[in-house]
Amino acid sequence: MHVHVADHPLISHKLTVLRDERTDSPTFRRLADELVTLLAYEATRDVRVDPVTVQTPVAEARGVRLSTPQPLVVPILRAGLGMLEGMQRLLPTAEVGFLGMVRNEETLEATTYAERLPDDLARRQCYVLDPMLATGGTLSAAIEFLVQRGADHITAVTLLAAPEGIARVEADLADIGVPVTLVTAGLDERLNDKGYIVPGLGDAGDRLYG
Ligand code: PRP
Repeated sequence: MHVHVADHPLISHKLTVLRDERTDSPTFRRLADELVTLLAYEATRDVRVDPVTVQTPVAEARGVRLSTPQPLVVPILRAGLGMLEGMQRLLPTAEVGFLGMVRNEETLEATTYAERLPDDLARRQCYVLDPMLATGGTLSAAIEFLVQRGADHITAVTLLAAPEGIARVEADLADIGVPVTLVTAGLDERLNDKGYIVPGLGDAGDRLYG
């Protein structure tokens, strides 16, 4: 897995305010949205395009258009929903599919409780949205699911990731056979014994939606 930690002062500034426990839910939602748009710019660096020619008022110009099939954006419910609009701002024509996953807070195992995706993801580039990559169980399962359906290019966008979670995803997906990239606003120190990212920002789902 290729890991890209965004390095930009605006991203660091917004992430710092997001971490602050005094930041209320409306501000948290707005900042998460703004951060995702900045991350989306980096995450879509490999988005597929086809060459086209357009006629300007002056002459013909060569350019590109997004390839078909269009990319698929997959927010992981619930917290990933807070990242959808920020991503759609840069990819307004992308299709959207949903995966509902929840982590058991005792065993830390992820299970899928909802799924609404196109049946056939052949030749699809997929952008998976989830604010937190903690133990990595959720992201591994989501990516395996998308690749089983035919997705051939995966980019995960997170706000924070833990080293232990990245290592697990890399181990789980070692033989997945498709390129996987992680774009994250921050890479934190570690997980605590409850599986929370340290220093992290707390429970993203709760801070977004209460
Ligand atoms: C959180 C978070 C990720 C997952 C990360 O979701 O949004 O989906 O946990 O944990 P992992 O890397 O250890 O699997 P949660 O299960 O709290 O659900 P929610 O989004 O509905 O709050």
